[in-house]
Amino acid sequence: MEKPGKIAPPKGKLGVLLPGMGAVSTTFMAGVELVRKAKAQPVGSLTQLSTIRLGKRTDGRSPLIKKFVPLSDLKDLVFGGWDIFKDNAYQAASKAGVLSENDLEKVKPFLSGISPMKAAFDREYVRRLDGTYVKKGKSKYDLALQIKDDIENFRKTKRVSRLVTCWCGSTEVFIKPEEVHSTPEKFVEAMKANHPAIAPSMLYAWASVTSGVPFANGAPNLTVDIPAIQQLALEHNVAICGKDFKTGQTMMKTVLAPAFKARMLGLQGWYSTNILGNRDGEVLDDPGSFKTKEESKLGALEYILQPQLYPVLYSNVFHKVRINYYPPRGDNKEGWDNIDIFGWLGYPMQIKVDFLCRDSILAAPIVLDLVLFLDLAQRAGMRGIQEWLSFYFKSPMTAPGLYPEHDLFIQLMKLKNTLRWMMGEGLITHLGQEYYD
Ligand SMILES: NC(=O)c1ccc[n+]([C@@H]2O[C@H](COP(=O)([O-])OP(=O)(O)OC[C@H]3O[C@@H](n4cnc5c(N)ncnc54)[C@H](O)[C@@H]3O)[C@@H](O)[C@H]2O)c1
Repeated sequence: MEKPGKIAPPKGKLGVLLPGMGAVSTTFMAGVELVRKAKAQPVGSLTQLSTIRLGKRTDGRSPLIKKFVPLSDLKDLVFGGWDIFKDNAYQAASKAGVLSENDLEKVKPFLSGISPMKAAFDREYVRRLDGTYVKKGKSKYDLALQIKDDIENFRKTKRVSRLVTCWCGSTEVFIKPEEVHSTPEKFVEAMKANHPAIAPSMLYAWASVTSGVPFANGAPNLTVDIPAIQQLALEHNVAICGKDFKTGQTMMKTVLAPAFKARMLGLQGWYSTNILGNRDGEVLDDPGSFKTKEESKLGALEYILQPQLYPVLYSNVFHKVRINYYPPRGDNKEGWDNIDIFGWLGYPMQIKVDFLCRDSILAAPIVLDLVLFLDLAQRAGMRGIQEWLSFYFKSPMTAPGLYPEHDLFIQLMKLKNTLRWMMGEGLITHLGQEYYD
């Protein structure tokens, strides 16, 4: 693939559209505003804090990523979204209980000014939620057209020059790819016929992509991960990526598993369990939504360990993932991992990980980076699946037939090399022979 030509500069405002204005979305928006007001640091965000080495180790060139590639400035971000509850972003953030009252108070007028648009919603797909702030329409197609109207209204009234959509809505029930997802034409017919395999998140995806707006999927739903939407993304020159933000337990898994494989240590079993008490936890308490999440969380190990290449070490791994809804913890999830490994001559060992994390605190900078990088990709003319953003996802989307990279450090190298490639800099291979010539 040829390197992108000139990347259009980030002129004007960038609209950020968030289907789902719950814990992650409000923590993200509040955080951006706190950073803009110089009241907090954007910890966890590569676009804001990370540097990128260019040239040889001896060159001493390590600019900040945001100085190296033309990213939109935080001051130019304008927010909007949809939800099934009418609460504005301040009310939603207060209910989510992620940020302290003290922090929320500092951004109260800003958050109070962001009210959701009515959602395209159907309880069949998120059984634990029941909201009243929802669109009405004869068919799913009708609802998707209403979302397109929302997007155009937002574009006009907020005077944004570009837009990005990031799905931060609830996890929907498990849906397998079907014939109706195979082409744009069949997809439209299915929307008109109210086909059950068309979930609400897909309506947002279709509306965004056909409006020329890039789309990131933070949940494990299929959403943009179907041929119909991928084809539309190519036809409309739109960048897409997903799925399921890689935040806590899976992030740790994709760090530890590559270490075992690097050292040729064997794995017998990996038991992961979680307690969390936020709305996401309540939704995931439903078996249909849990199944979607479970599939997403289970995939990583198999791809990283490659049992087909290392049958002695990894052909008999017992991998289990549980999520338990436990309201007292709110957004502060606790994720335990018990890992049974074996070493020299097959002698067993154990590793225990107890990650007392904050779900939305980990997810918010990912939303920020995805928004800024998708907008960059869009301005660089990069369309379709953005595999270089795999770094941010539990189930990275790839071209058909291509297995995904799950190893966090391979993903990071892929991301940074893509930025170097976009800017015409040499790629870094870590060969290092040149220092000894
Ligand atoms: N926080 C993390 O670490 C993390 C990691 C990976 C994935 N995720 C996913 O991100 C999503 C958001 O997480 P959260 O903690 O903010 O959840 P949340 O429950 O606080 O927020 C989700 C919001 O989406 C709304 N919603 C549901 N269906 C909708 C629809 N069709 N249209 C518009 N709004 C809709 C809900 O009313 C709710 O306000 C979830 O799917 C979650 O699984 C979160």
